[in-house]
Amino acid sequence: MTDKPKFYITTAISYVNGAPHLGHAYEAISTDVIARYKRLDGYDVFFLTGTDEHGQKVESSARAQGMEPKAFCDMIAAQFEEMTRTLNISNDGFIRTTEPRHYASTRAIWQKLVDAGDIYLGSYAGWYSVRDEAYFSEDELVRDGDRWLTPGGAEVEWIEEPSYFFRLSAYTDRLIAHYEANPDFAAPPHRRNELMNFLRQGLKDLSVSRTSFRWGVPVPGDDEHIVYVWLDALTNYITAAGYPDEESEFYRRYWPADIHIVGKDIMRFHAIYWPAFLMSAGAPLPGQVFGHGFLTIEGQKMSKSLGNVVTPDAMRETYGLDQMRYFLMREVPYGNDGSVTPEAIVQRINSDLANDLGNLGQRVLTMIARNCGGRVPEPGGFTAEDEALFAAAEALPGETRRAMEDLAIHRMLEAIWRVVGDANRYVDAQAPWALRKTDPARMNTVLYVLADVIRQLAIFVQPVVPDAAGALLEQLAVPDEEGGGEGARDFAALPARLTPGTVLPAPWPVFPRFVAEDAA
Ligand code: ME8
Ligand code: MG
Repeated sequence: MTDKPKFYITTAISYVNGAPHLGHAYEAISTDVIARYKRLDGYDVFFLTGTDEHGQKVESSARAQGMEPKAFCDMIAAQFEEMTRTLNISNDGFIRTTEPRHYASTRAIWQKLVDAGDIYLGSYAGWYSVRDEAYFSEDELVRDGDRWLTPGGAEVEWIEEPSYFFRLSAYTDRLIAHYEANPDFAAPPHRRNELMNFLRQGLKDLSVSRTSFRWGVPVPGDDEHIVYVWLDALTNYITAAGYPDEESEFYRRYWPADIHIVGKDIMRFHAIYWPAFLMSAGAPLPGQVFGHGFLTIEGQKMSKSLGNVVTPDAMRETYGLDQMRYFLMREVPYGNDGSVTPEAIVQRINSDLANDLGNLGQRVLTMIARNCGGRVPEPGGFTAEDEALFAAAEALPGETRRAMEDLAIHRMLEAIWRVVGDANRYVDAQAPWALRKTDPARMNTVLYVLADVIRQLAIFVQPVVPDAAGALLEQLAVPDEEGGGEGARDFAALPARLTPGTVLPAPWPVFPRFVAEDAA
């Protein structure tokens, strides 16, 4: 076994009531960037994603298609798995809540809650939102004409049925104490404050079983009841770590999860219900729950009725995968909501990618191919300008790490692009093309400095644009174990520099400009 520290990160698991949309792609890509960054920074990462397949919403979506729930889930879950491949998501596991291992784990958790004395039989009478699979009290609802809606705009229905309850009320104080002892447990800070306010009002017991439909995990010992889909779904994270086999090597190494990445709409489930369930079950709590923002299309909520649902496939096919990944990570400060517009995407592609990074690589590698015999040039002594550019690049491990400690992916990219800007200004100031005749030795030094800085930049952009970064590293003949491809590891190995004389392949461009079809 490796001596690296472990890092277990998850996305939420997606409902399979419909095809993957851009919000799902955003969550998968952003979590992938964090996972890839951590691998580069020397962690042994376990990255989990998957699908949430039970409950009333999925059951009725299946029926609406005239399908049995399981067949319907198989069909849609396959689309989510396919999305991890088309978006180049580096997940190590994919969990489906309909798997036998997850039934066993959910039933085991339930039994632990029972053994702790936290489950009792009662009956529920109140509002339920099928879209959110959540209970709402009257004072949380908002009036819309002659009906009531959730604050998120979902319809609610009145339900009355026998139900098991979880003694959530008994956990208010322990949760507040946990938040106080672990200020980063729920993040970003404005989300934590919302949750803290909710906790301070005191928690009510939670209905954790349903009897009015069948699609889910039967309650152990009373299979008239189906386990509430959120208790089932949250358990996925510990199922994938091997629960209930708490003695297994895998469980002991990877549980608890270090970070759950979820959308802001489901923070309460992850940062209040989930830790309460785990406390009751006597299992360790995850390190952090981070709530990212919501994407809108040109400022409007994505919705099928508005006809503005951008599919992940359409965006990738139009702009390219790395372009899509870069745009989503750079445009929207992670944790905030963000709007997607075609103008903003084209602007980012043409300026940050094509002009700034793509052009830097292309200019330098072409000059090396033409003027240095296609080999890494031999540098002479370094000037203050050379050392300044090296120093800027060599500050990247610290700067990116500081940004990523806050999961500020956009700040990591800003730090990298500041060095891209420095490198472009250095090319202009040093004018290596003019040195070719006047001072070829100095030209070699300048091109060497640039080639090595491009290598370092390529290593740091790998988490966000893995294909393009791999192409740049290949053009610099950087072997995998030094920062290319899958073997990419450990910033500690930086900045061992490029070896002069290394033969380089003929260069090719990595970030073409985007030209709209109708304009072309
Ligand atoms: O909530 N922008 O599943 P889900 C950004 N099954 N993120 C978005 C988004 C948008 N427009 N729309 C959705 C569920 N998301 C549950 C989770 S976890 C134990 C169970 C995010 O398919 C959303 O916030 O509705 C959530 O994190 C994820 O996509 C899956 O949403
Ligand atoms: Mg949702």
